[in-house]
Amino acid sequence: MSEQLIINRNDDKKSKYVSLIPQIKSLIENENNLIANLANVSAALKQTFDLFWVGFYLVENDNLVLAPFQGPIACTRIKYGKGVCGTSLKEKKTIIVPNVELFAGHIACSSLSKSEIVVPVLKNSNVIGVLDIDSTELGSFNETDAKYLEEICNIISEQIKNF
Ligand code: SME
Repeated sequence: MSEQLIINRNDDKKSKYVSLIPQIKSLIENENNLIANLANVSAALKQTFDLFWVGFYLVENDNLVLAPFQGPIACTRIKYGKGVCGTSLKEKKTIIVPNVELFAGHIACSSLSKSEIVVPVLKNSNVIGVLDIDSTELGSFNETDAKYLEEICNIISEQIKNF
């Protein structure tokens, strides 16, 4: 595809995801390099939803290491079970945090972050990384985000041939 996203700015959240997902598929379908694909997916999400921070952490020796992202600089390493990301890794599930101050053990990479969603990227039932999105507003994420971001993580996972 040409490197241009077509998203209607006035659409609601669900419609934006519905437009974005086929474009993400074509953006990564001919590329097997994981870092390149994570970089473009981060950019596509940031561009579509004008997010504060969006990016990936990848599993390395059971912990998480910062991978492609869009936004301010962030924590480089997160231990298994720590913070929202490490909890998503441990529990192998999506975590929606409406107010980061109410999540015990939340890791504040930025004091501006108020709500967050973390989605695991699963390959053969193992978590190989997580997608993390932070917002400067409270309660930015809901089940619509969870459903479509999980779909995006599955598309990424299917594209990984040798991990
Ligand atoms: N808040 C995350 C840390 C990563 S940054 O938000 C980019 C956490 O608690 O795991």
